[in-house]
Amino acid sequence: MNIRQIFLVHTVAASICLMVFPGIVTAQEYSSKGADSCLTCHKNEKWSVMSIFNTKHGSLTDPEAPFSNLQCEACHGPSQEHQKAKKKSEVPVPVVFGEGSPTPVSQQNAACLSCHESHTGAGWFGSRHESVDVGCASCHQSHADRDPMFDSLEQQEVCFGCHSRTRQDTYKASGHPLRFGSMACSDCHNVHDGNNDFLLTEDNVNDTCYRCHAEKRGPYLWEHAPVTESCTLCHDVHGSNHPAMLTKRPPLLCQQCHSASGHPGEAYTSDDMDSNANSRFLLARGCQNCHTQVHGSNHPSGSSQIR
Ligand code: HEC
Ligand code: HEC
Ligand code: HEC
Ligand code: HEC
Ligand code: HEC
Ligand code: HEC
Ligand code: HEC
Ligand code: HEC
Ligand code: HEC
Ligand code: HEC
Repeated sequence: MNIRQIFLVHTVAASICLMVFPGIVTAQEYSSKGADSCLTCHKNEKWSVMSIFNTKHGSLTDPEAPFSNLQCEACHGPSQEHQKAKKKSEVPVPVVFGEGSPTPVSQQNAACLSCHESHTGAGWFGSRHESVDVGCASCHQSHADRDPMFDSLEQQEVCFGCHSRTRQDTYKASGHPLRFGSMACSDCHNVHDGNNDFLLTEDNVNDTCYRCHAEKRGPYLWEHAPVTESCTLCHDVHGSNHPAMLTKRPPLLCQQCHSASGHPGEAYTSDDMDSNANSRFLLARGCQNCHTQVHGSNHPSGSSQIR
């Protein structure tokens, strides 16, 4: 780059920054030598910032990447005064990321969104995480060789830091293979998209499940109403101590809805030993001894889900 090009880049960048960081650009200017202005101090072990050069952000050939233009300051904002200040702690860079940062989360996120609005989509705005001030940097690491969000086990650890109940669920006897790392939270959740229920990858619960359990989509000749409504009426998808991640064990699972009609009316429990301990309604798989097609049936006479 010759001097004129550098000047041009900086002028364009400064006007972009006026839009992205209104008010700040007047406080600080861009440093004159890009990353070189910073690395004189920040190269050493203490900061461990160098791994960024192993990531896509470190690319010098991708014209969209930070290091092809404003470099460190593409994210941290114009930092000349920080660079020159005697006492650094008194003049921090305009955008400090992470927990305990003096920079408001919305402003941290704006720095990332200045390039990523099209990737994260308009769905980020108004999503649960955005509205409770979770930052991009609460999940993503920019100075690590590998961002934890792209490793199924490391990703979960980050989520569990805030969602400890979900961690407990994944340790239950029956569950999706999350704790073995063969699945990740992001197989079902797209945390950037608040337009979907529960930040799921698809519009709603069932469409998310059908992606992998397509056979449950039907269409069935005889549908079972709760199945088409939501799989979570019967399944705890993060894990459960009942087989097949059921929310309750049959027959109780079935009896919570089927209590007032015909033969299921009797509350079969093992407390009532005399009459029910060997009942055909309770043995082994309970109701499913006969009602094997709980997800729906295509048999012409399958209306009772027994075939
Ligand atoms: C002369 C040495 C020096 C230079 C040059 C320098 N810094 Fe710093 N920087 C420091 C020191 C020392 C701190 C720690 C200040 C403190 O204790 O709060 C710091 C803090 C930071 C922090 C905040 C870390 C945190 O967690 O609070 C960021 C981000 C940062 N510098 C980025 C930059 C960028 C970007 C540049 C280049 C434009 C730069 N620095 C240039 C010495 C320097
Ligand atoms: C100057 C523009 C720019 C800024 C600012 C920026 N990024 Fe990026 N980012 C990129 C480009 C370009 C890529 C590479 C895209 C590609 O190859 O698909 C990228 C890739 C990524 C990826 C994917 C990495 C991978 O290995 O696939 C993540 C995650 C990411 N950025 C998060 C962030 C976060 C978090 C911030 C704010 C701290 C941020 N970015 C700020 C331009 C930027
Ligand atoms: C709650 C955690 C979390 C937050 C907060 C978060 N992300 Fe992500 N992000 C992820 C996960 C998980 C993936 C990986 C998805 C995958 O495996 O496909 C990802 C992937 C990405 C990617 C690369 C894939 C793509 O979608 O193009 C980019 C870029 C990105 N995030 C940017 C951002 C930005 C910018 C913000 C802040 C506005 C942000 N993320 C906030 C968890 C998060
Ligand atoms: C893609 C955006 C992005 C770019 C480019 C970037 N940083 Fe950072 N920086 C971050 C984020 C996000 C954090 C918070 C920690 C993390 O995610 O790893 C951070 C943290 C830091 C810290 C504090 C680290 C600590 O140990 O507390 C320093 C210092 C820093 N960056 C300096 C730099 C320097 C110097 C450059 C240029 C060589 C640079 N950053 C380029 C996003 C960026
Ligand atoms: C920094 C803390 C933090 C991290 C990290 C985090 N979350 Fe969250 N998340 C929250 C908070 C706070 C809420 C809102 C809590 C509430 O609604 O009760 C939330 C809500 C959610 C919701 C419910 C959304 C809704 O619409 O009801 C889902 C799903 C979720 N997070 C998934 C994830 C996943 C997956 C990850 C990891 C990729 C993750 N979160 C990482 C703090 C975090
Ligand atoms: C098999 C798909 C699937 C996977 C994998 C998955 N989730 Fe969920 N998650 C859901 C569904 C469906 C819901 C909403 C329905 C419900 O639980 O009632 C949900 C809801 C949530 C909620 C909000 C409601 C609540 O239970 O607090 C959080 C937080 C959450 N998930 C976090 C996670 C985290 C963290 C991971 C990774 C360890 C993860 N999820 C993995 C499907 C999944
Ligand atoms: C990304 C693919 C994927 C998605 C999406 C998915 N699952 Fe699964 N599911 C699996 C895999 C893989 C297994 C097999 C686990 C095993 O064999 O240990 C499984 C197993 C199950 C089981 C049987 C567990 C057992 O112990 O027999 C149930 C029930 C289940 N999933 C329900 C759901 C529901 C409900 C949803 C939607 C919220 C869903 N799944 C979404 C991949 C997925
Ligand atoms: C009315 C309750 C109920 C609803 C709603 C329900 N299931 Fe099930 N599901 C069960 C029962 C009971 C079992 C155990 C079946 C058995 O013992 O063979 C089961 C087992 C499963 C299994 C593992 C065994 C198999 O058949 O592959 C998967 C996968 C599954 N369900 C997925 C789903 C999906 C996806 C949905 C939503 C479309 C859903 N379920 C809705 C009751 C339900
Ligand atoms: C969340 C509530 C709910 C749960 C749990 C539930 N069902 Fe149902 N079930 C329904 C509804 C609603 C219908 C439709 C009733 C209708 O159309 O009149 C239905 C229909 C049926 C039918 C067909 C009834 C008919 O009149 O032809 C059978 C058989 C049945 N369920 C068995 C079961 C079994 C076995 C279980 C346990 C594995 C179960 N159900 C769990 C709500 C539930
Ligand atoms: C021994 C086999 C068997 C067991 C076990 C069984 N059922 Fe049935 N069930 C049937 C048959 C056969 C029908 C069909 C009756 C008809 O078509 O007149 C039926 C019909 C039903 C119906 C349709 C409406 C009705 O009352 O006729 C529901 C709902 C139902 N069963 C629920 C249950 C529940 C809940 C359980 C567990 C507590 C259960 N069944 C256990 C054989 C069984």
